[in-house]
Amino acid sequence: MVLNRFRPLFFLFLCIPAIVLGQVRSVLTLKKNWKFHNGQDSMAYKMAFDDSKWQSVTIPHDWAIYGPFDKEIDKQVVAIEQNNETVATEKTGRTGALPYVGQGWYRNKFRIPQYKKGQKVILLFEGAMSEPKVYVNGNKVGEWGYGYSYFHFDITEKVLADKLNTIAVQLTNVESSSRWYPGAGLYRNVRVIVKNNESIDLWGTYITTPFISPEMAKVNIKTKASGDGVHLVTRIIDAAGDTLSTDITHLKFGNEFDQNIAVPDPKLWSPESPYLYTAVSQLFVGDELKDEVTTRFGIRDIKYNSKTGFSLNGKTRKFKGVCLHHDLGPLGAAVNRSALKRQLRILKDMGCDAIRSSHNMPSLEQLELCDEMGFMFLAESFDEWAKPKVENGYNRFFEEYAEKDIVNLVRATRNHPSIVMWSTGNEVPDQYGLIGVKRAKWIQDIFHREDPTRPVTVGMDQVQNSMESGFGAILDIPGLNYRLPLYEEAYEKFPQGFILGSETASTVSSRGIYKFPVVEAKMKQYKDYQSSSYDLETCSWSNIPDDDFVWQDDKSWVIGEFVWTGFDYLGEPTPYDEKWPSRSSYFGINDLAGLPKDRYYLYRSRWNTEEETLHILPHWNWEGREGENTPVFVYTSYDSAELFINGKSMGVRKKHSGTAKNRYRLMWMDVQYEPGSLKVVAFDGQGKVAAEKEMVTAGKPYRIILDPDRTELNADGEDLAFVTVSVVDKHGILCPTATNQLKFKVKGEGKYRAACNGDPTSLEMFHHPTMKLFSGKLVVLVTTTEKAGSIELSVTGKGLKSAKIGLSSKKPL
Ligand code: GAL
Repeated sequence: MVLNRFRPLFFLFLCIPAIVLGQVRSVLTLKKNWKFHNGQDSMAYKMAFDDSKWQSVTIPHDWAIYGPFDKEIDKQVVAIEQNNETVATEKTGRTGALPYVGQGWYRNKFRIPQYKKGQKVILLFEGAMSEPKVYVNGNKVGEWGYGYSYFHFDITEKVLADKLNTIAVQLTNVESSSRWYPGAGLYRNVRVIVKNNESIDLWGTYITTPFISPEMAKVNIKTKASGDGVHLVTRIIDAAGDTLSTDITHLKFGNEFDQNIAVPDPKLWSPESPYLYTAVSQLFVGDELKDEVTTRFGIRDIKYNSKTGFSLNGKTRKFKGVCLHHDLGPLGAAVNRSALKRQLRILKDMGCDAIRSSHNMPSLEQLELCDEMGFMFLAESFDEWAKPKVENGYNRFFEEYAEKDIVNLVRATRNHPSIVMWSTGNEVPDQYGLIGVKRAKWIQDIFHREDPTRPVTVGMDQVQNSMESGFGAILDIPGLNYRLPLYEEAYEKFPQGFILGSETASTVSSRGIYKFPVVEAKMKQYKDYQSSSYDLETCSWSNIPDDDFVWQDDKSWVIGEFVWTGFDYLGEPTPYDEKWPSRSSYFGINDLAGLPKDRYYLYRSRWNTEEETLHILPHWNWEGREGENTPVFVYTSYDSAELFINGKSMGVRKKHSGTAKNRYRLMWMDVQYEPGSLKVVAFDGQGKVAAEKEMVTAGKPYRIILDPDRTELNADGEDLAFVTVSVVDKHGILCPTATNQLKFKVKGEGKYRAACNGDPTSLEMFHHPTMKLFSGKLVVLVTTTEKAGSIELSVTGKGLKSAKIGLSSKKPL
């Protein structure tokens, strides 16, 4: 990704926030002063239009996340073929039951400071949901189809120097256009880039590292630039800011410079050591600097081969990945760096090392964070090609836009070392029929043309068919979604010599909710529309995590997995697709608030090889179940453990090869509930006591407890603290079944932003400063103002001792 920093000085203009200006190029990020209207208006594109009565908003913005939830919104009466359904039924929460359908208009007035005639002006959208039509000063400058694409228009001819310019954007979302909550509006950044006529193209820098040895790496930099008589100076800088090499070239091939630069003693990028270099590309005419672009990159080697599977920097490894949707729970689709960073921190602690952006283009912020924090990335493009999954899905745009969308995806993101694979599609119905095989090749070829260094996959669900048709054989990487019984046959029949679990598990659970009897079940429903957190319930097409672990552990030719999903997301409330008020998923390893479910510890126990995991479930507050069978599971990195109830041993359990579950979980199936203490003692390989954990039955809710993820924030109006709120009894023991209604107040240089309790059936709005606890917990999001200072969050609840917490914010450097 091209990260622009500009020299020689940074100027901040008071009237135009978020602007970075330099001698040669300026980037204005249009965050503020937007006016928004949810509805149609045939005059709103005009320059002179009066938008003073419209709502004032900041971008990124998702107009639909403010609700209210409504059963009737985008109610889809369909048979979901991918889920093996044959009869159409009413699906209520499929797209989240939030008001994303309809039209929205955004308008912004801005000045282009220091604009000189002859300069180029580019308007860049990093995503707009959806079907944007863009006007500058009353003139239409372009339109796009897909809401997840990055796209840009040259608006040089339409802008006014030294005057206010008006951008108007019309967005349209139609019903039955998605299988999940897509969000609505300008949910990612909008930027105006002003540069000289002699300049480097937008996304014109392409950095690869084709040769790496311990002594030296060859960094190849291709730079597309326009202008006569230009030459390029490229410097490579290490993470400490020291220049390592400088290269000057006057030689252009068409409009492209091609440099090979040596980096001595290269430090390689990996999830464990995400070392980043920077290339500064300066374009000159004679002595005059005309443009400058700064690009971060990593030096790393990826290989996929039939003998060794996937290797990074020469070491074979398997992807310990999760799939993520783009929404950020209570923030909706509106992109937010600190929310993304928190997600990655949680996943890092779990030992996860890879992300799949299912099923569309990731935000640029997420890729930057993956580069910095160390996550490999499978960047996906589409959920549909020409054949529909939903009536008004991407199939409407495929013919006209597919190539443009891929070109933009690759060019905008190819310098991210985190990206190790592209995906052209997820479970596209085009897997059927010869035309689909041709399409697969056509799209894959576009990726190869744009980036010959990374392989391409498709997440396939029609595995049998794709073995017969040749569809799977042409892919660089055959990706199997679920379909464990076909792994062996697919490996035999596909020529690649390895397969990827491009989508796995789809186990469903609700945080802190346990159901009896404890049995494995498919599409299981309960009266409260929750799923059991014993992690034994799945969809008809999916499986428990342990079944994947067996294939990952036993077959060298399985190169890893991407679990469905890292976090719950809005929409797709399987197995309650037809049950109102279910409106968000049950698939997450973490819930919609980002709180870990039990499954988090099951994955952690095998993925996080650095730290111990010892986790007991269920909770131990079962008033009314005294004497009844209440199985206890322990998810642990240790091989064996002994369980005690009120000091009485329930016996030792050891992981063994009986069933998949026995290999990865310690289970005491015949425990009778009695209140008090539940204690587990874990043993190391020598049978010595290695760790202990105790859970105690809680008394009545007494006091509120606040636990922030961070206390020092940036005073930028966007940063967020995620404060976990829970209720404990008089002795400080967490009350795991508490559902108290709480209220939130923020004082000082911060604002209440949202709350979320992770209950997939809750219809409380996230932005209202009150919410019920779910399984004893919820999360409050506090944001900063642009003024540095102290912030106070107080949380109150009827009959409970309230709580306060102090946060502080500083001006970012
Ligand atoms: C897959 C699909 C995902 C999601 C998942 C739920 O088949 O690719 O998008 O729908 O099922 O299990």
